[in-house]
Amino acid sequence: MIDRSPVSTLILFGATGDLAARMLLPSLYGLDLDGLLPDDLKIIGTARSERTDETFRQHAAEAVSEHVGAQYVDDAVLTRFVARLSYVQLDATDAAGYQRLAAAIPNRQAGIAIFLSTAPSLFKPTIDNLEAAGLAGPNVRMALEKPLGTDLASSRTINDAVGKAFPEEQTFRIDHYLGKETVQNLLALRFANVLFEPLWNSQYIAHVQITVAETVGLEGRSDYYDGAGALRDMVQNHMLQLLALVAMEPPASFDATAIRDEKVKALRSLRPITAADVATQVVTGQYGAGAVGGKPVPAYLDELGRPSDTETFVALKAKVDNWRWAGVPFYLRTGKRMPERSTEIVITFKDVPHSMFAAKGARTVPNRLVISIQPEENISLELMAKMPGLDRGGIRLREVPLDIRLADAFADTRRRIAYERLLLDLIEGDPTLFVRRDEVEAQWQWIDGVRAAWTAAGLKPRSYGSGNWGPSAAIALAERDGVSWND
Ligand code: BG6
Repeated sequence: MIDRSPVSTLILFGATGDLAARMLLPSLYGLDLDGLLPDDLKIIGTARSERTDETFRQHAAEAVSEHVGAQYVDDAVLTRFVARLSYVQLDATDAAGYQRLAAAIPNRQAGIAIFLSTAPSLFKPTIDNLEAAGLAGPNVRMALEKPLGTDLASSRTINDAVGKAFPEEQTFRIDHYLGKETVQNLLALRFANVLFEPLWNSQYIAHVQITVAETVGLEGRSDYYDGAGALRDMVQNHMLQLLALVAMEPPASFDATAIRDEKVKALRSLRPITAADVATQVVTGQYGAGAVGGKPVPAYLDELGRPSDTETFVALKAKVDNWRWAGVPFYLRTGKRMPERSTEIVITFKDVPHSMFAAKGARTVPNRLVISIQPEENISLELMAKMPGLDRGGIRLREVPLDIRLADAFADTRRRIAYERLLLDLIEGDPTLFVRRDEVEAQWQWIDGVRAAWTAAGLKPRSYGSGNWGPSAAIALAERDGVSWND
């Protein structure tokens, strides 16, 4: 039985880190601003660095002022918010610190949520120490931030270690893409409209493209990123979650089990990529020097300061082997140092079976549904229309977009950080937008297969100039099928 009562203590591990400053503390402030945090909620930050309650509160106030729009910074709310905060210095591997942490919790009988964003090597000692200090048990929820392993075996080791102390229904694995509004809107688009679902299959859809393009480079994260690469950093989690939401069967209810059951079925239907498929289905790249947004940027290897074969770009042609999607390619592409920041899903429908306009010289173009997730949240349906005129020289047709700009349609609502939703769901105990163990493992299983295939095929990343859409082979990967990426 899932416990849905709100917790009264939230413990943030890694509370002085970058994620906390940019996302977690501003998100918690945003929730407080809207009166959504439980009145009695206390937030305890922990990290290795030395701080007092007071200096941690100052740090949090600065993070909020820097990362929350000035129009939302309200002095009275900020004072109330920082009063919830306290700090316990703690070395994750040292049991003594956990006793101090336990003693700092005002009410141990009430619910506790723990947010862990630490290096994977610290997961096991942290969990063991929490358990030994009595900070596990039925009233404690555990949220885990990536990276949760580097392959299926290491992810199982982490999941086993966590699972020993926290049953699955108390474990909240974060994929912050699931906290993004437009990602959730995919569910509304597919399942709250009658228009799309009858066409949402191989009979009417020609192909699906998912792009996550970023302009940033290493961002000082070389220790982590060089050991991960684009496939494990972005495809294994965010992109496969997007694919699962596009590909899954309709869940019977808006409920954690129903939705996650359908996602995992879709993930398990991904056809393994073999060494023989690599030449036509996988392209990897690594950025060289170039310019992004008019500014010169260095090559990956120069940022890193050593040789490396890590890919900063990957393009894949995936197939979902089930009745609904037989024969429909899913083209996935992600990279750093791309010309623009853009996350989008493009569904390209098949052309009309017979065009009565062809004899009049007019060409039809297949309809497309473009779901933009970043930087703008838009949904656009491209339809064919007749161009105005008397048509003496023949009929002319052109695609025109039916656009929904979500920022305009819902102009009076504040656009939230993805973590606001996820932190509130964690505090309130709703696991729907968190990733279940079987999903993560299905994701790793497929990704491990891709990596094994490219090792066997001797695939090496091709260089691409920063500010380009990856190596030209990525364009060829789609063009071979007569498909163009939506740039
Ligand atoms: C993270 C990756 O999970 O997602 C980063 O580790 C990436 O490399 C980030 O930059 C992208 O998130 P968003 O929300 O900016 O698209």
